[in-house]
Amino acid sequence: MNIMVVGGGGREHAIIKKLRENSTVDKIYALPGNGGMSAEAECVNIGAKDIEAITAFAGDPANAVDYAVVAPDDPLVLGCVDALEAIGIPCFGPRANAAIIEGSKVFSKNLMKKYGIPTAQYEVFDDMDAALKYLETAPIPTVIKADGLALGKGVIIAMTREEARNAVVSMMQDKVFGKSGDHIVIEEFLEGPEVSVLSFTDGKTVVPMISSMDHKRAGDNDTGLNTGGMGTVAPNPYYTDAVAEECMEKIFLPTIHAMNAEGRSFKGCLYFGLMITKDGPKVIEYNCRFGDPETQVVLPLLESDLLTIMQAVTDGRLAETEVKFSDKYACCVIMASEGYPVKYEKGFELTIPEEIADRVYVAGAVIRDGKLLTNGGRVLGCTAVAGSLKEAVSEAYKLVDRVHFDNQYYRHDIGQRALKAGC
Ligand code: AMP
Ligand code: GLY
Repeated sequence: MNIMVVGGGGREHAIIKKLRENSTVDKIYALPGNGGMSAEAECVNIGAKDIEAITAFAGDPANAVDYAVVAPDDPLVLGCVDALEAIGIPCFGPRANAAIIEGSKVFSKNLMKKYGIPTAQYEVFDDMDAALKYLETAPIPTVIKADGLALGKGVIIAMTREEARNAVVSMMQDKVFGKSGDHIVIEEFLEGPEVSVLSFTDGKTVVPMISSMDHKRAGDNDTGLNTGGMGTVAPNPYYTDAVAEECMEKIFLPTIHAMNAEGRSFKGCLYFGLMITKDGPKVIEYNCRFGDPETQVVLPLLESDLLTIMQAVTDGRLAETEVKFSDKYACCVIMASEGYPVKYEKGFELTIPEEIADRVYVAGAVIRDGKLLTNGGRVLGCTAVAGSLKEAVSEAYKLVDRVHFDNQYYRHDIGQRALKAGC
């Protein structure tokens, strides 16, 4: 069986490695993939947003694509799954009308309000003057969110009224996030530990995966700019059995039902970004896809076969499919280029010893003249699995020590918060 995976980062590398464990898998095409995954996949130089070229590739009988996994948010929101289904390719991933749960914050906030799903109080604005007027009396700190996809940067936590005003002007007048700033959400600032819960859902059944904790800020001790994620651990100690039960009852099932009621049945991986507040768990955001780098700790702990689960999701058979996770712990440390997420150099030679390559998920690398070179802000992630979180963290940093490239940067405290919380 041949599989096409759309996307090219560390998350896709983790998905591909897991799919490779299924012995019926022959070829895996990665569109575009990256040079660091060429041992497991054939990289095809087609961008993840080029729906027309992706569909043409999948439909070409010479490529014999049997199944497709669309991993990133952009192609999902742009209707990649709809286009592939239209030519008869079965897919893992939501259609565009369901991917909107991530593609529009206004949509997801209104959905939660309509169906009573716990989230921060909010107001939606499409007029700058009205937003600025609201800010004159709004409680501070406050959170300003651009409506559409903004590469994970469309959220500003304003600690002062002036910061809040500046954020509104930059989104709505200066259009720093383009059309995503046409509509904005201004919402209540919530406090509490954050938990990421990825789930498999076929629109009828929802099966949460093992919980995880991201480390979004660039610097140690959660300082510096927000990034795509500098490291993860799983499970997340704040996600206790009691919290999990409450989430299933008040958030996960109501969300699946709400999407069905809206005629937007969600099939694929639905990611719940949660905050455990003193009033219980609340939704900070939904993503219509696997998280990055959450996937790099969640999938290594999955004991069941990923392809079997994905196909069950596609066919609506999730209820009768085993989804089993190990009771071990995982830690992923992201190695980035110095200067990420702002300005960084690329093109440094990258060496990953053969003996640890199975635990390295490459996000940004390219092969040039037979050499593997760095080619992105986030270069790779090293994941260790162990019987305790302490051991997983220490083993992950040992892997980091064995990977070499100039100009590298990584956080030294991945997992420390979870350890202090008593994992
Ligand atoms: P998002 O892109 O929606 O995940 O937001 C990015 C980050 O901003 C989240 O991971 C939170 O740390 C923070 N954030 C978003 N919304 C809120 C909120 N209402 N209160 C406090 N922090 C928030
Ligand atoms: N790690 C956060 C995300 O994938 O959105």
